[in-house]
Amino acid sequence: MFHSPPSSVSDRFSDVSGSPPRLDPNTLSLLDSYFSEKAEAERRFQELAAERAAAQIAGLALHDEPEADKPMVSVADFKLAFGEDWQLSQFWYSESFATNLAKRLHSMCTPSTTIAFLCCPTAFVAFEHMKPLEGSRLFEYDQRFAVLSPKKFVPYDIDDPDVFPESLKEKVDIAVVDPPFLNEVTNKKVVQTLRQLLHPKSKLIVVTSTSVEDILEKLYSSPPLGPLRKTSIDPEHGRLANDFACWGSWDGAENLGKD
Ligand SMILES: C[S@@+](CC[C@H](N)C(=O)[O-])C[C@H]1O[C@@H](n2cnc3c(N)ncnc32)[C@H](O)[C@@H]1O
Repeated sequence: MFHSPPSSVSDRFSDVSGSPPRLDPNTLSLLDSYFSEKAEAERRFQELAAERAAAQIAGLALHDEPEADKPMVSVADFKLAFGEDWQLSQFWYSESFATNLAKRLHSMCTPSTTIAFLCCPTAFVAFEHMKPLEGSRLFEYDQRFAVLSPKKFVPYDIDDPDVFPESLKEKVDIAVVDPPFLNEVTNKKVVQTLRQLLHPKSKLIVVTSTSVEDILEKLYSSPPLGPLRKTSIDPEHGRLANDFACWGSWDGAENLGKD
């Protein structure tokens, strides 16, 4: 359950001290817009969750397949309803990057492809919004994303790297991953999962910071996880200025994004 933040910073401070805040007006205005943005995202999320729940109940009442053909929200609507939780290292891709990546990924898929998005919900949303694929899955720790597509959501915690549906073992043809934390331990756990999901002919796409390039070289070294080649796709985030890049694990991955 999510709690609505106070509607303004003034409310927030007067609750605690009973006296007006002594903050610089610019800081106050920045904080106010931060809390308003969060409150608005929370409102939109609740609206989306209620809408999806109602549609599911209606589907059940009609003995339809729940969630069968519900269109995926657009990246713009996703970003409005799902506020970034920085504790979970959530920094959403820009709409143009997510859409560009989705286009490239679709060109690599057939109707029977199984594609898994690990820790990159915006990429999953863009892909599904462009054209839903029966075999797409979102592996995520943040349970909020289950409302987007309950059938395709796979609860996933990198701290339990072996916990995922048995039916996906060695069945994933393409995996796209953006590890939540920029360190070796995190990447080791992700690799442990990927080694079980992928089969010898699978393709892997890793989107992460160039600051961990040496870790990637070390851990994603043998097929089907590597060696990784840097693609020409240039990741872009709304509020993150870190230098990110995108790597692919197959021969010719360097050409991805060149045209
Ligand atoms: C670096 S972000 C990548 C998000 C990507 N930029 C996007 O726009 O889709 C990493 C993702 O990992 C997820 N995450 C955080 N902690 C996790 C954990 N313990 N296990 C699995 N995923 C986790 C976050 O919810 C977040 O969506």
